[in-house]
Amino acid sequence: MDGERHGFGEAQCACKLDLLPQFRGEEIDVLEHLDRLPPDPILGVMAAFRADSDPHKVDLGVGVFRDDAGETPVMKAVREAERQVLARQTTKTYVAAVGNAGFNEAMERLVLGQGHAALGSGRLRTIQAPGGCGALRLGAELIRAAAPDAVVHVSTPTWANHVPLLSNCGLRLERYPYFDPATGGVAFEAMLGALDRLPPRSVVLLHASCHNPTGADLEDGQWRELLGLVRRRSLLPFIDIAYQGLGRGLAEDAYGPRLFCAELPEVLVAVSCSKNFGLYRERTGALHVLSAAPAAADAAVSQLMRIARGLYSMPPDHGAAIVHAILTEERLRGSWEGELEAMRIRIQQLRTAAVQRLAAACPRKDFGYIARQRGMFSYLGVDVQAVRELRERHHVYLMDDSRINVAGLRLDNIGYFAEAVGKVVGA
Ligand code: LMR
Repeated sequence: MDGERHGFGEAQCACKLDLLPQFRGEEIDVLEHLDRLPPDPILGVMAAFRADSDPHKVDLGVGVFRDDAGETPVMKAVREAERQVLARQTTKTYVAAVGNAGFNEAMERLVLGQGHAALGSGRLRTIQAPGGCGALRLGAELIRAAAPDAVVHVSTPTWANHVPLLSNCGLRLERYPYFDPATGGVAFEAMLGALDRLPPRSVVLLHASCHNPTGADLEDGQWRELLGLVRRRSLLPFIDIAYQGLGRGLAEDAYGPRLFCAELPEVLVAVSCSKNFGLYRERTGALHVLSAAPAAADAAVSQLMRIARGLYSMPPDHGAAIVHAILTEERLRGSWEGELEAMRIRIQQLRTAAVQRLAAACPRKDFGYIARQRGMFSYLGVDVQAVRELRERHHVYLMDDSRINVAGLRLDNIGYFAEAVGKVVGA
């Protein structure tokens, strides 16, 4: 029927289909001149690992948590919440451009903590987003709508995908120093020095915790010092929190966003539920926007709804419904917090074990910084040639910049991994 309405009934459709193999692009060549792009730096490594059939292969590429069996299991709390959500669900009709209001509120409380001053201020608005990536993009689009010439300053280095997510809407990106390879920590003085030279209204992207790709985090005192600078220079902080609970703890990992949202007039916080709820493929996230006054907050959310409508219309519901159930039901929340804590402890144990095994396999290089860093990622600190050799000769997959996902190690393959590193960098 549709075919008839559009002027190609069944007979014509069949005739068109017959002709398809004969098209050589002579008549329509719009797509013919597209350049073939190289694979995404992170997703390309993920695909290469999947294609490798070697039984010893080790996946330290994409940032996903793995258990002792090398699996990324569905968390028990998620399974139970999912069961409840499906049993309660009576419709699949649209939710709303801002998403699930209950989820948004629960996320505000999770990130900022119960009783945070911003919660009752009328200045805070939240929009559900398709993952942390969606939240980052929404935030970037909002900044662009408010200040088309704004420049976003990102750490050197930062998560590879920050660059397209923030700049594809037309914002300019600049870099500030962040990581000190000599200590494996934050080059805090250099960072402050660079930020202190920024013009007012510059946007500064900050990682709340578990810095991706370095694992080097700001200490609480450094967040406080940074707050003074941000206030003095009238900067807009845009905080990415994608690993809450996987570094030092749920409250500790949100120290920066909590402090900034208590003390500053304007803050953007992009949140991901991919890692701490293990909801990767469900694309669950949120953008919190703190404005100076309730009227400005209303305007911001109206803009965000328009932006979302033009990008993807409405966010997917399933992951948000699960998170909402977990965060609002005491038993589920307790179970989730327990599982999250076990994941955090496991990552820290893997860090310690990796340092021990690397020290034995390559005593000339000091890997002690890996145990001091937090979250999923650390740099191995080897060149791209060594990275290629690790991949090609030893089936150990890591990023070109030598980022490893520590959470991808297993107690039974750390030895293999360390020996491979030893062979490549020299014992
Ligand atoms: C990573 O950094 O590996 C993860 O955040 C996954 C991704 O989308 O890049």
